[in-house]
Amino acid sequence: MKVLVTGGTGYIGSHTCCELLDRGYEVVIIDNLSNSKKEVVSKIEQITGKKVKFYLGDVRDKELLRKIFKENEINFVIHFAGYKAVGESVLNPLMYYENNLLSTINLCEVMKEFDCKNLVFSSSATVYGIPKKLPLKEDFSLAATNPYGQTKLMIENILKDLYASDNSWNIVILRYFNPIGAHASGLIGEEPNGIPNNLMPYIVKVANKELPFLNIFGNDYDTVDGTGVRDYIHVVDLAIGHVLSIEKINKDKGIFIYNLGTGHGYSVLELVNTFSKVNNIEVNYRIVDRRPGDVAECYADTKKATIELGFKAQKTIDDMCRDSYKYVINNK
Ligand code: WQD
Repeated sequence: MKVLVTGGTGYIGSHTCCELLDRGYEVVIIDNLSNSKKEVVSKIEQITGKKVKFYLGDVRDKELLRKIFKENEINFVIHFAGYKAVGESVLNPLMYYENNLLSTINLCEVMKEFDCKNLVFSSSATVYGIPKKLPLKEDFSLAATNPYGQTKLMIENILKDLYASDNSWNIVILRYFNPIGAHASGLIGEEPNGIPNNLMPYIVKVANKELPFLNIFGNDYDTVDGTGVRDYIHVVDLAIGHVLSIEKINKDKGIFIYNLGTGHGYSVLELVNTFSKVNNIEVNYRIVDRRPGDVAECYADTKKATIELGFKAQKTIDDMCRDSYKYVINNK
């Protein structure tokens, strides 16, 4: 079985390619390298001992997509490619709407032309907006609090309408919580451009002395220790969730939506202290004001993914902290 992975040299995409290859799938990647490096292809091949077919280009380019489908008999598509920085989306919404929406629409149109209607879409817990009740369930009301989240919500609706118009499509929508960690080999991991927006890449740069200290955005939330609580999931567990989704639509037909998290929330201070303990290294930090748009707590109800996908996160918060740092040490 051959899987086209859009954004396959990215953080989650590359880990998913490894899990697919390890389970005997053939992998084709399209990536414009706007937020990743070509060398990740050879790292994926080194980790798995398998070859990957790579196409440099943009998912908005329908002619390139047609070339890929002409040259490869694609059975499934996993669609990661898209911009994903919340702050950047607020500053440049048109760039986010144009890229994230158009790439998805063009991809689906070409898939239809080649009668390939099996799609796994990378969505986000951000579509739940400000949680009114926890843990978050897939049938909770949806809202977006920023243009990035809006694009994810719009694409979910586009895919639901697509399925309603033609239920020969088989679609899985995966809502990620907070992916962190890296492959145990230390060969692939998270490589944010510039100053990281997200917590773990920032912690790693402070531990690695690339940044002087971590700013903890608020310790006056109504949480275990006043700092923000999130559902951190190891990127390898997340990748396995994508393989299970392919297997799901290979067996059952329809459209399915799942949370991919651990079901457990950790606070910023708990993550910082775990990181220091596991890696035996200090992480300097200071408490500053809350970041606008942040919520106090967010974590997943994972029952549906467990029952219907057989998904259960295996890796611990210690694994996530150890693997995140190992990747940086390995790639100094
Ligand atoms: C986690 C916690 C911060 C940085 C975002 C996107 C979401 C998804 C995952 C794509 C919060 C605190 C952070 C820092 C801090 N991305 N923090 N200092 O905001 O939960 O989710 O990334 O799908 O869509 O919204 O993740 O890692 O930015 O923040 O104190 O320098 O760490 O306040 O409590 P977030 P995050």
